Amino acid sequence: MAATSAPPARFRRLRRALRGPLEVWERLGLRARVTGLFAFGALLLSLLMGGLAFYSTSHFLVGDQINSAISESVSAAGTVENALKAQPGAFVPTLLNHANSTSGANSILVYRGTASGSSFAVSLSDVPDALQSLVLSGTPATQTIVLNGSPQVVVGIPIPALRNAQYFAIYDLGDLDHTLHVLALALVLGGLVTTLLGGVVGRIASGRSLRPLSAVSRAAVAIARGDLDTRLRATTEDPDLAGLTQSFNTMVDQLQERIERDARFASDVSHELRSPLTTLANTLNVLEAHSHEFTPRAQRALELLGADLRRFERMVAELLEISRSDTGALDVSLEPVDAGELVRQSVHASARALPEGIAPPEVWIDPLLDNVILNVDKRRFERIMANLLENAALYGGGATRVAAENGPMRHGRPTMVIAVEDEGPGVPLAERRRIFDRFYRGQASGRRGASTGTGLGLALVSEHVRLLGGLVGIEDAPGGGARFTIELPVFDDEEPE
Ligand SMILES: Nc1ncnc2c1ncn2[C@@H]1O[C@H](COP(=O)(O)OP(=O)(O)O)[C@@H](O)[C@H]1O
Ligand SMILES: [Mg+2]
Repeated sequence: MAATSAPPARFRRLRRALRGPLEVWERLGLRARVTGLFAFGALLLSLLMGGLAFYSTSHFLVGDQINSAISESVSAAGTVENALKAQPGAFVPTLLNHANSTSGANSILVYRGTASGSSFAVSLSDVPDALQSLVLSGTPATQTIVLNGSPQVVVGIPIPALRNAQYFAIYDLGDLDHTLHVLALALVLGGLVTTLLGGVVGRIASGRSLRPLSAVSRAAVAIARGDLDTRLRATTEDPDLAGLTQSFNTMVDQLQERIERDARFASDVSHELRSPLTTLANTLNVLEAHSHEFTPRAQRALELLGADLRRFERMVAELLEISRSDTGALDVSLEPVDAGELVRQSVHASARALPEGIAPPEVWIDPLLDNVILNVDKRRFERIMANLLENAALYGGGATRVAAENGPMRHGRPTMVIAVEDEGPGVPLAERRRIFDRFYRGQASGRRGASTGTGLGLALVSEHVRLLGGLVGIEDAPGGGARFTIELPVFDDEEPE
């Protein structure tokens, strides 16, 4: 049991240990990861290739060196043997030097129980004991050692014909070692450069292959912004991308179709509701004309019916307007108009429709706006002002001031701002983002005007403003009430639109 449960525990520990690095890895972008993988691959490859190259080269060079050391030693031992046979009392160091004059190796001869070296730099104690006993037993052998920090190879040759003498030669491998060090350094540097190159290639390759993705992301942003006609350009060269492009475009097609179908549905419904509503309204008018004949209870019921029917009519009209704007059926007819004049006229026109007891607001036009021309749809602008003034009347006790002044620069173009202020309770911060949503009615609607509102007024305002290329906003009025602002682009005379 214990044996079988051990691996999962180990795996669990491994997984736990890897969790941190894995999370960091996953948090890196796709591009960074591809780059990292390329660099890592290049590193592995250069390690493998470099290791192989180093191993085979050093193997070959060292083997070669040892082989030539052996054959040189064999011939030197022969020379020494012949010389001592001819002249048994000869001075051994001289003989040794003579025998090694070409190779430059240091050598030692153990002869008649004494060891003589070719120079003072070497002695028999430099030759490992194991090698000495091998050679003493009559077997030629080699061994590599480190002498004074430098690698050496010792070759031992037994000379049985010379009363069991032993010949040792020590060859310095320092040069070879240096060569191998240089080679290793070159391979490491080469590996680093390859890794770096791998990273660069990965970066370029991932950039190239991710380029279509950034096109997709740009298109998605445009679509989210409401630009439903955006499509990806079909690339014919790459079959993988062609598939992506096609499915993306098909998805947007279907989305667009669906949005249009929904918008058309709302528009059709409101359109269809209009004629029965007209019949109802006409019938109601007839009934109202005869209301004095009814009992007080029936009269009250008729009043309630009338109020609801008018609200219903209004809702259908607004719904029709908003859904037409959704389907793109609302056309915008822009014409150049004097900014100040436009504001004054629209306030004047809307003020007439305000409930009784609501005074028209003071209109203030910044003198800087004199002769400023707006390129605007007048009818639409009037609808905006009518809605804002009506809201101010319903929820803020009536607009106190309508001000028009220069606005901030937007996309390098000048703007003007029209503000409608009241001294009512204002709009709570929490509601400010939502009051422009369709059918959203805020706290204020519960207090007053509940029967007339539909929750579509500000949604229509923002729709109209958007069609005019402007921005709508809500803030606190200086006097504490609500201040609705409309920012509209001002076009220079020379370049209308
Ligand atoms: N001037 C204002 N002062 C306070 N609240 C306002 C004002 N104008 C609008 N609101 C709030 O915004 C909500 C949405 O307005 P709107 O879209 O015109 O719908 P409705 O007027 O039919 O309720 C209102 O219900 C109200 O709560
Ligand atoms: Mg309203």
